[in-house]
Amino acid sequence: MEKLEAALAKAREMRKSTLGTPRVDREPVSPKVMAAGDWLSLPEFKLTPARLQRNRITAILGGKDATPYDMLRSRTIRLMREKEWSRLAVTSPGPACGKTTVALNLALSLSRQKDLRVMLFDLDLRRPALHKVAGLTPKHSFHEVLDGRIAFEDQAVRIGENLILAMNATACRNPSELLQASGTGEVLDEIERRWQPDVMLFDMSPMLASDDNVGFLGNVDCALLIVAAERTTLPNIDVCEKELAQLTNVLGIVLNKCRYADKLVGYSYDSYS
Ligand SMILES: Nc1ncnc2c1ncn2[C@@H]1O[C@H](COP(=O)(O)OP(=O)(O)OP(=O)(O)O)[C@@H](O)[C@H]1O
Ligand SMILES: [Mg+2]
Repeated sequence: MEKLEAALAKAREMRKSTLGTPRVDREPVSPKVMAAGDWLSLPEFKLTPARLQRNRITAILGGKDATPYDMLRSRTIRLMREKEWSRLAVTSPGPACGKTTVALNLALSLSRQKDLRVMLFDLDLRRPALHKVAGLTPKHSFHEVLDGRIAFEDQAVRIGENLILAMNATACRNPSELLQASGTGEVLDEIERRWQPDVMLFDMSPMLASDDNVGFLGNVDCALLIVAAERTTLPNIDVCEKELAQLTNVLGIVLNKCRYADKLVGYSYDSYS
């Protein structure tokens, strides 16, 4: 634990100097002059709290079980507002560090703030899992929206009034190519222009498993690196932190599955301000 904490502190120092680099090659998509797409026109899906609880999704109702995610939300939104950022990727060095769990909890925590409009996209196109955790397999997959076969409004589902989930029913055959295609950036720009979310979260695949993230991360403003305590190795944290910092702004490292931190979800957060 001490070694891990020292590594996180070192990474924080290193990143302080780089945080703030603007998102590459993207015009701001924010002029909120056009009428936003009508969020209430999207089909609503009602999450089942008991099922979510089994999948460690604790941020839906607030209260003490949501506290760690609410803290992560507050720090994330403060930093993103400061920098006028709207797009955040959630990734990790290896598999099963808790990306999908953290991403959905963070989205739910953000959406309990009623003035925020939040979208969560499943971009782990090799092993999509957001639908399993949320408890709904969509008829169409978001990768079909990215390659232009399906309209976003025919794919996305709404949770409450201000959270949209874009999930996948199936894996994609060419994830790496699709994620780095210029058309993918254009589809996301169009979604942002039309639906005007305040925050777009992207649940990504593990960094060390493929090059999927490399081609995509130029489309986001910043990223969280989720690491699993006692499982993710220090060299892997180091390599991924450096690579991530070359591709986007590293907002922070989330130390997940930590037995010695918060007893409720075993999680702590290391951020930069
Ligand atoms: N804080 C935690 N404490 C204990 N278990 C956790 C914690 N966070 C997530 N898990 C569990 O770890 C497993 C993997 O979580 P999750 O699917 O969110 O990881 P992932 O990084 O998205 O995995 P993948 O790389 O396969 O996409 C799940 O069974 C999840 O419930
Ligand atoms: Mg996942």
